[in-house]
This record gives sequence, structure tokens and C-alpha cells, in this order.
Amino acid sequence: IARKLMIKLGVNIDHVATIRQARRACEPDPVWAAAEAELAGADGITIHLREDRRHIQDRDAQLLRQSVRTRLNLEMAVAEPVVKIAEKLLPDMATLVPERREEVTTEGGLDVKGNRKRLAEVVSRLHRKKIAVSLFIDPDPDQVKTAADLGVEFIELHTGCFANAWGKEKACERETRLLHRMAELAVSLGMRVNAGHGITYWNVRELITLPGIEEFNIGHSIISRAVFVGLRQAVRDMQVAIREAELQCRGAK
Ligand code: PXP
Repeated sequence: IARKLMIKLGVNIDHVATIRQARRACEPDPVWAAAEAELAGADGITIHLREDRRHIQDRDAQLLRQSVRTRLNLEMAVAEPVVKIAEKLLPDMATLVPERREEVTTEGGLDVKGNRKRLAEVVSRLHRKKIAVSLFIDPDPDQVKTAADLGVEFIELHTGCFANAWGKEKACERETRLLHRMAELAVSLGMRVNAGHGITYWNVRELITLPGIEEFNIGHSIISRAVFVGLRQAVRDMQVAIREAELQCRGAK
């Protein structure tokens, strides 16, 4: 499988809204964050409109829809009120994710197999609005195959287990191999592949060679660095990390 050059970077700005909501204040504004990220070369902006509205608010989603100049990726659960919002908001892409109120962040991938009926309905409603759909799934063959059956354009491979295994040689190798196999399977079934969760400036280089990988969605690591160097620099640094790893990988061939 030919690897697409220039892997894209989607910047998840939820954490900016988390800081704002800690005070229920109006700053820092995720709309500013999106503009900064785009000025630094982000290829897309990702937000998760959670049912409990713990970070991104409806107002953010609406303003971002108007202001984002790259692509707006809306992460969302398949709960009816959020689906209705997505149908009106018209993001460029909707990434369907599981959601549990008590979780700190999205913990696992979608159970595509177990929720097939509801997912099929939501996917077709989003497609009717010309919104590209991605399913956030664990690297599991049954989930990948079911995603393909549902006719989605993209999967986003959950890289959380890989990220947790980082630094433990054997475990990390195992998780990386699994991600490779699942990316390959997805491409062979006609889907496009993104990846996200727990990706950092350090571990991203291991994911560069994922078959068909098109985009990384990264939040925590970038916003953490932004606290010290500013968001524009933090986004640039991640783009550099990706480009350098790509060049190394090409040079090694
Ligand atoms: N992709 C999905 C589907 C997510 O839910 C998240 C976390 O909000 C991310 C990517 C980004 O993960 P992280 O913040 O660990 O970079």
C-alpha cells in the first residue's frame, strides 16, 4: 500500500475550552485557538461536542463553523440531540465516538458491531447532508470490517493502547504491528485511515509508516506544549516532528 506523503495534522482544541470552563469565563477562546493553529499550518480543527458540554459549547461549534478556514472535524456521540446539531452545523467531517459521562477522555473505540443499527442510521443521515463520516475504532479486525460494511469514508484508529505501551519495547512493537495490520485491512476494504489519541511529539514517528495514513488528530500533547511555548509554536513543532519523521522514513527506503 502506497503511503500518502504529507500526513495531515488535525489539531484538537477541546482542552482550550476545558480551561475556559474551569472558570465558566470567556477566555481562553477556542475560536482564537483554531485561528492560531491554522496560522501555524494545522490542516484541520477538531472539536468534540460532548453531551455534558464539559468543554466545547454550542456557541463554539457555531462560530468555528463560520471561522475555520481548513476543515472542521466534529467528534460526536450518536445521541439524537447531537446528531440533530451536526445535521444543522454541517462540519466537513463527523467522527463518531463512544461517550461515557464518567470518563476523563474518550477511553475506547466505538463498538461498531454492537451498535450497527443505530450507526447505520446516523451514517446515512450525515451522508445525506454531504458530511464525510469517520468511525473512531479500536484496531480490531471485526470493528474494521463492520465499519467498511457501514460505508464510511474513514476510520480513525484508536492509538491509545499504542501510546500507553510507548517505552515498553515488546508491548509497543505489538501495538504498532496491530495498527499496521488494521490500517492495511481498512485500506484493502476501500476506507481511508486517520489515527488519534495519545499521540505525542515523541511517539508520532512510530506511526508515520502506517499503511495509507492520511491524518493524525492530536490534542493533549500540543495544548500541553502550548502552555509553555504558545499554540502557534506548538503546532509548528508537531508539523516539524511529522515532516522530519516522514523524511527519515523516505531516506531509509
Ligand atoms: N481522536 C479522538 C476520537 C479523540 O476522542 C481524541 C481525544 O479527544 C483525540 C483524537 C485526541 O487525543 P489526544 O488529546 O490524546 O491527542
